[in-house]
Amino acid sequence: MNKNIEQKIYNYLSDNLKPERYNHVLAVNDLAIKLAKSYKLDVVKVSVAALLHDCAKNMTLEENVKYIKKNNLKIKYADFVIKYLPQVLHSYIGSDIAQKQFGVKDKEIINAIKNHTVGRVEMSEFEKVIFIADALSVDRKYKKTFVSKKIMFGDLDKTFKLVLQNKIKYVVSNFKVLHPDIIKIWNYYNG
Ligand SMILES: [Fe+2]
Ligand SMILES: [Fe+2]
Repeated sequence: MNKNIEQKIYNYLSDNLKPERYNHVLAVNDLAIKLAKSYKLDVVKVSVAALLHDCAKNMTLEENVKYIKKNNLKIKYADFVIKYLPQVLHSYIGSDIAQKQFGVKDKEIINAIKNHTVGRVEMSEFEKVIFIADALSVDRKYKKTFVSKKIMFGDLDKTFKLVLQNKIKYVVSNFKVLHPDIIKIWNYYNG
């Protein structure tokens, strides 16, 4: 990664994210790099995506909505997501910030940021790595015993499915709202 861009990203993150979120990003970056090496992906690109994945996480719901309107972002089920799943909005806004403020043009990086919360059908290995690293980073306080190290670094698809399953389990067991695409996504990977 170009040293200037790298410094710009770190400065942005330390200026905009709360310390806990900043540490989360560093932990995600750490795991994403290890996964990228295991699965022979471009480590530098994966690191850019990991560092920027939560770059919009500091914003309030009001700021999210304002940003979406001002930048005319296309969000699937926008009204539903704003009402019931506002925690998903930072993925879309983050991918937009990555492009506009950091000049990211690489589709894999953009998609990985955009899809790191809900996922989507036909995710690339690159997107799966960011999705997994975000969920299994060391700072996450929940038990991660549902994925062994052997599976995490040896079977990307299995790890992805276990993380997806764990996310769905969490939402359902806490009587929270599922993203409207989640059944389609689940069926795609398990059909
Ligand atoms: Fe996130
Ligand atoms: Fe995250």
